[in-house]
Amino acid sequence: MELKETIRRRRSIRQYTGEPISEEALNQILQAALLAPTSMNRKPCRFYVVKDKDVLKKLADAKKAGGKMLADCEAAIVTVGDSDKADTWIEDCSIAMSFMMLAAVDQGIGSCWVQIYLRKQEDGSDAEDAVREILSLKETDRIAGILALGIPAKEAEPHTEADADMGKVIRIG
Ligand SMILES: Cc1cc2nc3c(=O)[nH]c(=O)nc-3n(C[C@H](O)[C@H](O)[C@H](O)COP(=O)(O)O)c2cc1C
Repeated sequence: MELKETIRRRRSIRQYTGEPISEEALNQILQAALLAPTSMNRKPCRFYVVKDKDVLKKLADAKKAGGKMLADCEAAIVTVGDSDKADTWIEDCSIAMSFMMLAAVDQGIGSCWVQIYLRKQEDGSDAEDAVREILSLKETDRIAGILALGIPAKEAEPHTEADADMGKVIRIG
């Protein structure tokens, strides 16, 4: 797929058919993350691939709203930044997440970013702490986000050129 088309076709997909994702497709998505640039090439990101339904359900409940699709997705990639390794963990992990979303489109797989960092659980406690506990991570492991993956239940409208608000572009010179 041409890059321009891949970018336009990337939409947040929150409903899935329940069909499995091939290991080959999953590997392509992970390769995109592992080849993404990081500040000073420090590579502080790790990627936890979760397929276990019980763990997916726990992740879905780790924050109050906006993550319930994790219970029904085929796989989730929890993107973890080691803040001991790099102060740019959020940037490095976010770029990796973005690369994975585009690679998923290329593989015919739908994805949706689930925000964890800065969010709360149903009872008001910290969502990041909940995910760290589910995956037995240390305090300095930061949860940049979780990518829910699955075969889209329905076709999402691709973005168009008109959706790109050129009013946000300020030209100097
Ligand atoms: C940093 C970030 C956090 C997001 N968090 C969530 C989330 O927790 N739950 C959710 O359903 N969508 C989440 N999204 C998806 C956005 O809602 C979505 O990208 C936006 O509405 C634009 O729609 P599109 O992705 O289809 O273009 C997030 C996206 C980004 C970039």
